[in-house]
Amino acid sequence: MTDLLTHIETQPPEVLDAIARSMNVRAAEPAMQSICARYMGEIVIRGANALEVGCGNGAATKLLMQHVKPARLVGVDPCSLFVNMASEAFKGEPRVSFALGDAASTGQPDASFDLVIAHTVYSHLVDPKSALTEAWRVLKPGGQLVIFDGDFATLAMALFDDDPMQSAVDAVLRNLVHAPYIMRQLPALVSAAGFRVESLQPHGYVQTTSPDYLLTLLSRGTTAACRAGEIGQMLVDGFEREAERRVASGTFYGAMLFLSLTARKTNDALTTGVPRRFPRGSARSPPKVSGRSLRYREGSRP
Ligand SMILES: C[S@@+](CC[C@H](N)C(=O)[O-])C[C@H]1O[C@@H](n2cnc3c(N)ncnc32)[C@H](O)[C@@H]1O
Repeated sequence: MTDLLTHIETQPPEVLDAIARSMNVRAAEPAMQSICARYMGEIVIRGANALEVGCGNGAATKLLMQHVKPARLVGVDPCSLFVNMASEAFKGEPRVSFALGDAASTGQPDASFDLVIAHTVYSHLVDPKSALTEAWRVLKPGGQLVIFDGDFATLAMALFDDDPMQSAVDAVLRNLVHAPYIMRQLPALVSAAGFRVESLQPHGYVQTTSPDYLLTLLSRGTTAACRAGEIGQMLVDGFEREAERRVASGTFYGAMLFLSLTARKTNDALTTGVPRRFPRGSARSPPKVSGRSLRYREGSRP
């Protein structure tokens, strides 16, 4: 995969501007706002110190401040333009600050945060294991890790078998998303990093009449495919016109599953520091998936 967000600092200004616009569009959409209100609203550590990894231009930071209300939030991102944009957006807000930093190397002190959160970042990471090790390092014992992202492998715009629009989706995934299956893999990775996984919740995202974020995604993905020499500009324009035609005629359909994972840096994990194992059928087995969410009950894990 050649996800351009995995090497963000080498992107030309027009690409960074398009990404920043897309972050704003997504954060402003009612569908995404209600998903954020739901999953951020359930974050239990309040009045706390929070670290936002991959904060971008601060678009999601505003939602975090609204729903989680931390006493202090530090946002880090490897893109200096985004860090500057975020700092500008929060000028005069003493609780919030931003710095250059990578998910695997945040530059923050050991055991200094109650919450580490990454909102639509892990699908762009080349080395999620190092990011989890870093989250463990900067979290206080008992601190919470929250990771939210698209299950991008479910992104669909097809209306019928072999719909050419789905090829545009494939171009988006090839060029904009490094790890389309990461949210499915995370529970095991997070456990192996020594955290106790507490919940994995699904959030359906379907757009028909005002798919502004999906249109920016389509445009950025097909433009990146054109820049990579995969397709020509006429096909980029064609996909855009077809998407607009579908919106105008009321036939557009775009959908994806988002997932939010919450995990805890437990004291027992601190002392043992070993990955957990769950013998089949034992009292220590993780609970089965039932209903709408996979939720581990407090105390049901070692
Ligand atoms: C899709 S954007 C999401 C930005 C923001 N969290 C939001 O939702 O508005 C992904 C962000 O991850 C950042 N990113 C890319 N690689 C990263 C890394 N290795 N560590 C931390 N952040 C990274 C990008 O610079 C970008 O700001």
